[in-house]
Amino acid sequence: MSDSALVIAAVVTVVALAALFVYTTAARRDRTAALRDGDEGPSGGGAETERSPGRDIERAAVLEHQSNAALAAAADAAPAVRGPMDPEVLDVTRRQFMNRGITAFFGLGVGGFGLAAISFLWPSRSGGFGSKVNVGKIDEIVSQINSKREPFYVPEARTWLATYPKEAVPKAKGVYTGAVLQGMENGFVALYQKCVHLGCRVPWCAGSQWFECPCHGSQYNRVGEQKGGPAPRGLDRFGVSIAGDSIVVDTQEVVQGPPIGTDTTGQGAEGPHCA
Ligand code: FES
Repeated sequence: MSDSALVIAAVVTVVALAALFVYTTAARRDRTAALRDGDEGPSGGGAETERSPGRDIERAAVLEHQSNAALAAAADAAPAVRGPMDPEVLDVTRRQFMNRGITAFFGLGVGGFGLAAISFLWPSRSGGFGSKVNVGKIDEIVSQINSKREPFYVPEARTWLATYPKEAVPKAKGVYTGAVLQGMENGFVALYQKCVHLGCRVPWCAGSQWFECPCHGSQYNRVGEQKGGPAPRGLDRFGVSIAGDSIVVDTQEVVQGPPIGTDTTGQGAEGPHCA
């Protein structure tokens, strides 16, 4: 799983846990309040006293008589005016409102943050790093590489695009695979600019004609194979394909660089080092 996918999964998990926490906290508060109010009810929560059946029948008859009288009186009386609401009931309603308001507020806040984080980290499908990047026309890029004597830098792909010598392809077949090898067979290698030691951006050194990291001195030859310093392998890289007369670098997947000791081109330093 890629780094981005891991971060997205972590964000989704945090958002879900936060929403669950807020919801359960509010629900617990509601339950506690309801239990407390029930204890303070008019019956006082005590056990009902036993009554004899005769008394029950007598009481039912009295109640029926009273309700008939009350109905008759109500038919003649003016509409009843409601008194003020019981403060305790009102308090419960307010508390529930506040709890639900807080839950909604936190839910919206956390959800918004999660969506923003996911949209920021989601790999772009419309160009740029994390997608297939059309670098430009083959002829123009090769001409620029040869005239400047340095690999072609593609900022939107965070990539150095270097030419790969045809005579080195048989050796490359013993080390590289997939779209990276295909790119080499087509004459190109796309190197991730991030140093595999601690992540500094690795610049090109015009003197040695290598990549040399200014942070701790790691060195890589023109095709990104480790030549010195603390880097644990060669530069990571991307697959390269040809679309018509253009070069396409696929930055959706970072391919790990070759192990220390790999040297498919035999290119030594061609001048003074920069790091
Ligand atoms: S980050 Fe490049 S050598 Fe340490």
